[in-house]
Amino acid sequence: MIDVKKIQNIDLDYLTHIIETDKYDEEIFRIADEIRRKYVGEEVHLRAIIEFSNYCSQHCLYCGLRAENKNLQRYRMTVDEIVERARLIANLGIKTVVLQSGEDPYYTTEMISEIISEIKKLDVAITLSIGERSFEEYKIWKELGADRYLMRHETASPQLYAKLHPGDTFENRRAHLLEIKRLGYETGAGFMVGLPDQTPYDLALDLAFIKEIDADMIGIGPFIPNPDTPLKESTGGDLQTTLRMVALARIVVPTANIPATTALGSINPFGRQYGLKYGANVIMPNLTPNPYRPNYSLYPGKICLFERDTACVECTKTMIKSIGLVVGEGYGYRRKVEEVSVDC
Ligand code: 5AD
Ligand code: FES
Repeated sequence: MIDVKKIQNIDLDYLTHIIETDKYDEEIFRIADEIRRKYVGEEVHLRAIIEFSNYCSQHCLYCGLRAENKNLQRYRMTVDEIVERARLIANLGIKTVVLQSGEDPYYTTEMISEIISEIKKLDVAITLSIGERSFEEYKIWKELGADRYLMRHETASPQLYAKLHPGDTFENRRAHLLEIKRLGYETGAGFMVGLPDQTPYDLALDLAFIKEIDADMIGIGPFIPNPDTPLKESTGGDLQTTLRMVALARIVVPTANIPATTALGSINPFGRQYGLKYGANVIMPNLTPNPYRPNYSLYPGKICLFERDTACVECTKTMIKSIGLVVGEGYGYRRKVEEVSVDC
């Protein structure tokens, strides 16, 4: 029997032990599914994502959008194009719009402000996922109505973080996430599994970090080596370990919103379905318009790139129903512990 209390209390030795083997998986998956049902219920929330710019000033060693990558056709959507796309999403009945981009300073404080103000008129929740900006900007955008901020911590190992992000530190990332949380955003952290030299202990640190900041959202995906990056020769993350981390994240932060990520669906045709069975409760259909969509290529094999415009909405809804879960119709804010049902 695994010791759930030791997991929830972040006993690092114990976590390392259960992360490094697959022998507890059946039990971990079962418990994660029970906790998911009890704390967040049967609803799976849809978050429509608009990847509005693939320009990036950063140099993350793993990412296809890194500034050094010349094998990528770069694009930027205009403010009007972005707002139009959000309108289409709202008309489809989806209650969250995720605005994602590389770190692209082309979009000024005012431009992002205008986008937020316009989209807020559509009665949807807004998630920003545009990388590190100034603390002042986070504040302005929160006051304008942005609800959530998604910025994976990528890895909570300071050594690994420094290796993957030249000139940057985990401490800095942590400070940004803490500020975002302090300002009252629903705050999304998250990490990749299978990064080069990442150890089970490093993954235990990731769980410690999501618990420390009480992450409202937790995005976990396998690292998928990109041929246009310095990490092209790496092995990458596997399905089983990634699912184990999704399940453990559910156990560690029971009320968090946890997506079954696109990367999970990209390494296995049923990856997202497994994710939803083992703890995840969110799915993020891709609503990036063409011709831009194929150019947001973080890693090879990314799913949904050549689908019909809004196909991912129907596809994700069908997926949710096919595994006996329910398509969420609300905004999908994080549930408070007091609202948790006690009947199981
Ligand atoms: N493999 C998997 N995930 C990746 N990301 C970036 N590059 C890769 C890759 N090669 C993830 C990062 C980032 C998110 C938008 O995509 O975790 O935060
Ligand atoms: Fe995009 Fe299935 S979710 S095609």
